[in-house]
Parts: sequence; C-alpha cells; structure tokens
Amino acid sequence: MKSKALLNLLRDGEVHSGESLAEQLGVSRTAVWKQVRKAMESGCDIATIRGRGYKLLSPVDLLDESEIVHGLDAQVRSAIHLSVQDEVDSTNAEVLRLWRSGSTGVPVCIADCQTAGRGRRGRAWQSPRGENLYLSMGLTFHGGFSVLDGLSLVLGVGVANALETLGARDIGLKWPNDIFLPGGKLGGILVELQGELQEGIVQVIVGIGINVHMAQAPGVDQPWASLDGAFPDQAWPRNRLASSLINAVMDVTALFADEGFKIFRAPWQARDIFEGQLLRAREGTLEGIGAGIDDAGNYLLKTNEGTVPVRAGEISLRVTA
Ligand code: BTN
Repeated sequence: MKSKALLNLLRDGEVHSGESLAEQLGVSRTAVWKQVRKAMESGCDIATIRGRGYKLLSPVDLLDESEIVHGLDAQVRSAIHLSVQDEVDSTNAEVLRLWRSGSTGVPVCIADCQTAGRGRRGRAWQSPRGENLYLSMGLTFHGGFSVLDGLSLVLGVGVANALETLGARDIGLKWPNDIFLPGGKLGGILVELQGELQEGIVQVIVGIGINVHMAQAPGVDQPWASLDGAFPDQAWPRNRLASSLINAVMDVTALFADEGFKIFRAPWQARDIFEGQLLRAREGTLEGIGAGIDDAGNYLLKTNEGTVPVRAGEISLRVTA
C-alpha cells in the first residue's frame, strides 16, 4: 500500500501540510493528495483542512516490523525469519515460499491483508486490510507424523495464553482449535502438514487468524467476535498481538516437543466450550455429552454405549439443536 508511509506520518493525529508531507515522502503535492484519496477509499478517516493540510481523525493500526521484533523474546528473535507483508494471497502460502527459497530460521509471515486467506475444511478466511491479524509460522518437528497428535490443541492453548496475558477474558476453545469468546468465534488456527523432509522430520505450517478491529463481516456466516468489540476499554495494537502470539507459539511448541501432549490436557480442558453439551459427531451418527479430551487430544463423548473418543482433526463436533 503506497499510503503506508503517509499514514505513518499522519499517525500522530496532528494537522500536516501537503507541502511537508510531500517533502518527507519525496513526492509531489499532487501525489500526496492521490495517496490521501486512496487511503480514504480504503476506509481511513482523514480530514482535509482547507489551507492547512490533512489530519487523521481515527487512529490506524499499522503493522510495523521493528515494533513486532521489539516485542519478541530474545531467543525467539534470533530463531525466526520474520516477513511483514502488505498483501499476500495467504500467509501460509508465503511461509511455504520462504521455506522453498531456502530462508533459514523459523519462517514467520504477517500480512496486512490476504487475497486468498484459507480456513479449515477448504473454506475461505475473510481477511480485510488492516483489521485483523493474519500470521503464519513454519515449524519443524522430529519424531514422525505421530508427534503431531495434539499439536492443534497445543496451539489453541498457546493462543489463549497470549490473549489472556494481553488482557482478554473468557477465552474458550472449541475442539480442535477454534478460539472463542462468549459472543462467537474470535479466531481460528489452520495446521497444514507440509510433509516429511527425511525420516522422522516433519514440517508443518501453522496459520493463525484473530479478529482484532473488524466491525463488520458480511461474508461470515456464523456468530463472530473481535478483540476491539469484546474489550473496548483497551487498545489492541496488532504489532503487540503479533509478538505475543509468536512468543507463545514458540513457547508451547518447544514444550510440546520436549514433554508431549499430556501437560496441555488440563489447560485445554479448562477452556473447553463443549463440556457438558449434547453433541453430534461422525455426520450425526454419534451423539453424546461433551466430556473433554484424552491424553492424545481426542475429544471424548459420553454416549449410551460408554465414552467414545473422536479423533483429532478427523471430524467436526456440532452442538445439537
Ligand atoms: C479456521 O478455519 O478456523 C482457520 C482459519 C485460519 C486463518 C489463518 S489467517 C493466517 C493464515 N493464512 C491463511 O490463509 N489462513 C490462516
């Protein structure tokens, strides 16, 4: 977005003359005006003050690589390769490209918007510019595909930890890894297996989408929530959110690689939104009461025939109407 540098200058909320903006951006005053118009078209609230210049009326939350890096734990900072993009098809796809281009370190991509954001089960993920967080990380695990049992749930715990540390309350997890608030879905996690590099070494792309400032979502067909909407008394800068999520993912996945899934069972279960609900699984052929997860991350249903584990990632659970 050409107007990013312009918005950076206007971000202080003061009036800036066209002349000073042109000088600082190294463009003509006409070019400044064109950028202002474009920014206004994409939803920025900028006032043109006759004879004086331009003023940003409501704050914009710009992604800023150095701010994100600043918020990272020291060991995370040196372990990752961060790419902050204005626009990509999907941050998951971008992480794959980073991997293929031979980048070293854990590839991490954050984008201001996605033109082909992907959700689970082949669905699209609405990714409007500037409103939400779109983050992907490329992770490598040793020990074969079975190591990945429970990974989705571990990531849910990591995301919930990060959000709670930043001040969010009542974060719920919907098996396997949707992030919920009482008002609806706040975010989702997409885990894409990249494959086995050599015997026992598996690569996984983890994509996290969190609704941050979004106030309208005409294309979303289920109840949803955003951090701004749910917690209006505090600011939710995307850079701080991004750093916290990256730190949290690095943290929980390292713990998971060392200790396995078992230690995540209790923190996951404490946020289980299905517990005690009448649920249907396996395309309606299995019905039971939600009873948390087992040590492998399978969801447990208490049915008339006893407790039945539903395999992680296999099928989705629905609350019966
Ligand atoms: C879901 O369906 O609940 C998972 C949604 C995951 C969306 C994120 S946004 C960042 C990353 N890039 C994508 O294309 N998808 C994931």
